[in-house]
Amino acid sequence: MVSIHRRHSWEIAERFATPEALYLNRRSILKSMGLGVATALSLGTGVAGAAEADPTADLYPAKKNDAYKLDRPITPEEINAHYNNFYEFGTSKDIAANAQNLVIRPWEVAIDGFVEAPFTIDFDDLVRKIPLETRLYRHRCVEAWSMTVPWAGFPLKSLVAMAKPQASAKYVRFETFLDPDMASGQGNFLYPWPYIEGVTIEEAANDLAFIVTGAYDKPVAKQHGAPLRLHLPWKYGFKSIKSIRKISFVEERPVGLWEALQPSEYGFWANVNPDVPHPRWSQAMERELGTGEMVPTLLFNGYGAEVAQLYTGMNPATLYM
Ligand code: MTE
Repeated sequence: MVSIHRRHSWEIAERFATPEALYLNRRSILKSMGLGVATALSLGTGVAGAAEADPTADLYPAKKNDAYKLDRPITPEEINAHYNNFYEFGTSKDIAANAQNLVIRPWEVAIDGFVEAPFTIDFDDLVRKIPLETRLYRHRCVEAWSMTVPWAGFPLKSLVAMAKPQASAKYVRFETFLDPDMASGQGNFLYPWPYIEGVTIEEAANDLAFIVTGAYDKPVAKQHGAPLRLHLPWKYGFKSIKSIRKISFVEERPVGLWEALQPSEYGFWANVNPDVPHPRWSQAMERELGTGEMVPTLLFNGYGAEVAQLYTGMNPATLYM
């Protein structure tokens, strides 16, 4: 995805969001608080610290759901925690430190649109309403790298049931926070913020669609999209929206940030298919984070048995971008 921007003059604007600038800014804030860099690290700028003060830490580790098995090793936490896509905090993979600026308490989630009665719920209440479980899932980025993560959370369908959608709700639309003061990447006006993604109501009802609240036996780290994100393991990773603030039940198909930006390259369905290349690169293989190995990509990222029936009779030309 990053390479798109290299082709355009957008790179100049992205410099406003350089990690260095934010890091320096953070250092000066800490300095004014009388804290040195060593203290800052032990306070939780790193991954390990994220769980320390979290009021939901007692919910982890969540019971493992053994239905979801892996054919490859789990990616070491310290590797994927420092190789992220979270454009709100910068366009490089090295956004973990910047993402610590994400303020995750209080965190309200709004449920609206065609539902019985719209409501807003505090994340700390929501996360205790539905039993959490741990699932080992593969994640395949459209950029041809992949990781495997022990996510914790609950099936999206449980949240859909809580929302009580009306019959006219055909799609579920997700929206990330919008706060350019907190997330300097959102000051980059070339992106249509906030980050939006969507699925059909049938996809949302599929057991694989998962709301992530934890990873590696603790609350999910900020750089992975705390306090709650989506994970759709059969789709390219950009569908798995982070740090969700609003979930809307809508009639019209939502247009995601990437689709709005580059519709010839990123579509609504974005189902993984090794035989359908991205317009600028092959999708046949993927590089595993951690091992660095190149492995063949699988149709629906290996989850065809669970999801292929969702697309029966649909035009294959549209399903894989
Ligand atoms: N969600 C938001 N809000 N902003 C983003 O930039 N990037 C997406 C997805 N969700 C993104 C997002 C992309 S392209 C990928 S591959 C995954 O998050 C990366 O998740 P990870 O950083 O936890 O590996």
